[in-house]
Amino acid sequence: MVSYKELGLVNSKEIFRKAFEGKYAIPAFNFNNMEQMQAIIQACVEKKSPVILQVSSGARKYANQTLLRYMAQGAVEYAKELGYNIPIVLHLDHGDTFELCKSCIDMGFSSVMIDGSHHSYDDNVALTRKVVEYAHQYDVTVEGELGVLAGVEDEVSAEHHTYTRPEEVEDFVTKTKVDSLAISIGTSHGANKFTPAQCTRDENGVLVPPPLRFDILEEVEKRIPGFPIVLHGSSSVPQDQVAIINKYGGALKDAIGIPESQLRKAAASAVCKINIDSDGRLAMTAAVREVFATQPAEFDPRKYLGPARESLRKLYMHKVENVLGSAGKA
Ligand code: G3H
Ligand code: 13P
Ligand code: ZN
Repeated sequence: MVSYKELGLVNSKEIFRKAFEGKYAIPAFNFNNMEQMQAIIQACVEKKSPVILQVSSGARKYANQTLLRYMAQGAVEYAKELGYNIPIVLHLDHGDTFELCKSCIDMGFSSVMIDGSHHSYDDNVALTRKVVEYAHQYDVTVEGELGVLAGVEDEVSAEHHTYTRPEEVEDFVTKTKVDSLAISIGTSHGANKFTPAQCTRDENGVLVPPPLRFDILEEVEKRIPGFPIVLHGSSSVPQDQVAIINKYGGALKDAIGIPESQLRKAAASAVCKINIDSDGRLAMTAAVREVFATQPAEFDPRKYLGPARESLRKLYMHKVENVLGSAGKA
């Protein structure tokens, strides 16, 4: 058993308190390889932003949980070497069992999400409570979830999201004692968050997705004042990156994300953590495809992963500076 404190990591408590008071949000960027981790740390050190390094269970299987933990430990030292000791959280994204959360806590994660949103309300409460009881013994913070995010997969629009019911949130946080709460207000995972049919067009013919349900967010804020809220599925799906991917042989269709203006508005509210994964995937893929297409004789991985890392670094700097507002807050 190793405590995150020995590794130089922090839990989310203090950074969320400051984010709430300062009306900005902490970036939670997913990572599963070295270049992503380097880009996240380079960008957040340069912009002096606190950061949440986020590991999904899929990432854990892909990269090996021990290696990822050592990478996060290395990230703390790397940040110092780059010249600024930013607060770094190592967080389990979408933990689905008590055992998985416990395993992460035992190996040095400073924060875990227990996503019981697909269970019945009572089962979600019981599972979340169990994780919180274990985590809090070690000062590890826990994120719970109420409401189900929609997923749009292939051509099928799953309009199955169940918006968070504000009337449940107070009871949920009181019973479970979670430290933050992910809610469902119209975001979803992946690069196809809306179908064109769900969008309108602006005067230039550009698709405009339906706005997030800020009315639900406001109602949640009223019922649990000062409580840190989390937004999943918050990639904006930059159309310039989609265009590069498709120009160089990709086949992304109807890729639509959350407009940055919506996320800026959310970041100024009780939303203290904004999850971004897909935008990083798009930036990496665009950069790699461009190198493959324009320099077909190239076969040194550094020659395509290097540009991918650089594109990621710029993306993350843009996010913390212009979307989340966390630049200069470390
Ligand atoms: O919420 C999901 C994250 O984007 C992680 O995705 O399970 O494919 O690693 P993943
Ligand atoms: P995106 O797919 O919109 O990047 O969402 C990421 C996320 O919510 C990770 O938990
Ligand atoms: Zn998520």
